[in-house]
Amino acid sequence: AIRKPMVAGNWKMNGSKELVQQLSDAINNVKSAEIDVVVFPPCPLLPMLTATGVTTGSQTVSENKPGAFTGEVDAQLIKDLGCQYTLVGHSERRSIYGESNDTVAAKFARAQQVGLTPILCVGESEQQREQGQTELVVAAQIDAVIDKLGLAALKDSVIAYEPVWAIGTGKTASPEQAQHVHKFIRDKIAANSSDLAQGLTILYGGSVNEKNSELLFAQPDIDGGLIGGASLKADLFTAICESAK
Ligand code: G3H
Repeated sequence: AIRKPMVAGNWKMNGSKELVQQLSDAINNVKSAEIDVVVFPPCPLLPMLTATGVTTGSQTVSENKPGAFTGEVDAQLIKDLGCQYTLVGHSERRSIYGESNDTVAAKFARAQQVGLTPILCVGESEQQREQGQTELVVAAQIDAVIDKLGLAALKDSVIAYEPVWAIGTGKTASPEQAQHVHKFIRDKIAANSSDLAQGLTILYGGSVNEKNSELLFAQPDIDGGLIGGASLKADLFTAICESAK
């Protein structure tokens, strides 16, 4: 592969101290020079998981600098805890917490400002796909970042394509459907910088499991996965990681 594969596990609002103990050895054992493995647990578990040697990130960050923002978490603090990544614009943040493309772009900016690598999550709803708006929606989500920060900002980032209709539904995009959108994203960026596009890691997320991961990851523009449910089980998550090597 031209790009190093990455498998990211998003625990969402699941997990416990016990889960960190159960999973950390398996995650550390599956890591290798061939693959980046990153885990996004709930924030309070970040110090404990990071201390085991697992590469970690937060599931979101505040777009603001420290101040009176009750309940929010500062990106610099996440970085100081030893994390390397943060998700921004996960579809659950967009739909449940009303994060707009502009807010997501501001979070992306703040993450990079403190030296965290943002993983920008994009994807269309079922209705948008049925109406033929997939490319329009995904392009607008990416353009919000490019308009605010310039194309070069994508250099130190990862994009995760997660069709909303495939998240937590057991309904995965077919390898062809996913590849089509991944290629659309890469071509869109290549129109302005072919080097940047070729170097950009683009993950697929949405009901990835140990059975469908191999064919998805074999697609030329799919560089790995963002795994939800299956990242909570050591055997499933490590099998998915192995299939990306
Ligand atoms: O961040 C992960 C995605 O939302 C996918 O979740 O694998 O449970 O469908 P899932």
